[in-house]
Amino acid sequence: MRLDSDFVRAQFPAFQVPALQGQAFFENAGGSYTCKHVIDRLTRFYTERKVQPYAPYVASTLAGEEMDEARSRMAALLGVETDELSFGPSTTQNTYVLAQAFAEFLQPGEAIVVTNQDHEANTGPWRRLAKRGIDIREWRVDPVTGHLDPEDLEALLDENVRLVCFPHCSNVVGEINPVIEITALAHAAGAFVCVDGVSYAPHGFVDVGSLGPDIYLFSAYKTYGPHQGLMVIRRVLGGLLPNQGHEFNGDALYKRFTPAGPDHAQVAACAGMADYIDALFDHHIGGPASPAERGRAVHDLMRAHEEALLAPLLDAVSGRNSVRLIGPTDAAGRAPTVALALERPGEDVAAELSRHGVMAGGGDFYAGRALSGMGVDDSLGVLRLSFTHYTTAEEVAQLIDALDKVL
Ligand SMILES: Cc1ncc(COP(=O)(O)O)c(C=O)c1O
Repeated sequence: MRLDSDFVRAQFPAFQVPALQGQAFFENAGGSYTCKHVIDRLTRFYTERKVQPYAPYVASTLAGEEMDEARSRMAALLGVETDELSFGPSTTQNTYVLAQAFAEFLQPGEAIVVTNQDHEANTGPWRRLAKRGIDIREWRVDPVTGHLDPEDLEALLDENVRLVCFPHCSNVVGEINPVIEITALAHAAGAFVCVDGVSYAPHGFVDVGSLGPDIYLFSAYKTYGPHQGLMVIRRVLGGLLPNQGHEFNGDALYKRFTPAGPDHAQVAACAGMADYIDALFDHHIGGPASPAERGRAVHDLMRAHEEALLAPLLDAVSGRNSVRLIGPTDAAGRAPTVALALERPGEDVAAELSRHGVMAGGGDFYAGRALSGMGVDDSLGVLRLSFTHYTTAEEVAQLIDALDKVL
């Protein structure tokens, strides 16, 4: 079974608008295009339901029901209970709130393991807890490959470690970390686990329940949805951590770590991401299946398409003397998020690529710790080329052709 690119692209208005014709989009790790299901729900909410939700009049009831639908359907896709999923303004704000909760929960001398492979969102807020007497231990990448070795984590674990934070996939290294294995190591040492899934989730939603972490975070604006952060907090940990919301909301797990009033329209529109997964499933596979099974099947379709397109791009860049490919050369072990360290600033090369109809970005992508851990010159940063399942082989060929001209 192969992904039907025409069907996929028909779900995204961006591929039909004249303004974007001929532009090959390779900055998806920064934020994806939005599927029509989400746009339609947002439009309907703003035009028909933009009232305070959960009141007895019809518009309000519909608004509240759509917000609940978004949470229950996304939770089911992720293989967790409905109240184990909450929405916040962004992943960065979600980790910030979680770090406040851990600051109250932990005792001085207890430890948190962080990596230098993460985006700043899943490392900076935890590192700040050092000021409160928490022992912060750094799990470091291999300086050549950017790989995070689970054996190095084992050396950091002891009975004082209460939390291990790491990315499912770094937004510059691209390697997919073995979440199940790492989680098992941390759990065996008595620690909770917080996984930043932001760079992985655009390539397929995962069954968080089976993967096993206590916290799993991602950002809907990179998974074809609106600008929201989604956060799974498993029940045991969520009940132990002190409530960060209004006191009277403390009994509702999904309200405990979202102190701000939610963006009603965007929360409701998140149901459109589940609509999109269902549409892909029905078009390609069909038949009865649980939401988590549908999510897994669509994940596998997306990944197979991406891997097939990624291989020629990796081949094209890995043989060049002037280019340092960050992360694995094998498409199977990585997301299609390809960072290249060059002899000039990544941003300059991105600007040159834009003249050839390629949209890409340059810089450190808030993963400066990972890049400096691999000796990348921070004044140059990297050029990042990132795509998803809606990208076509023709666009990858256009990119490779443009790279031939500018590198
Ligand atoms: C890997 C990773 N984690 C976290 C974030 C932060 O997400 P947000 O913008 O929702 O705060 C990003 C954003 O680019 C990211 O790439």
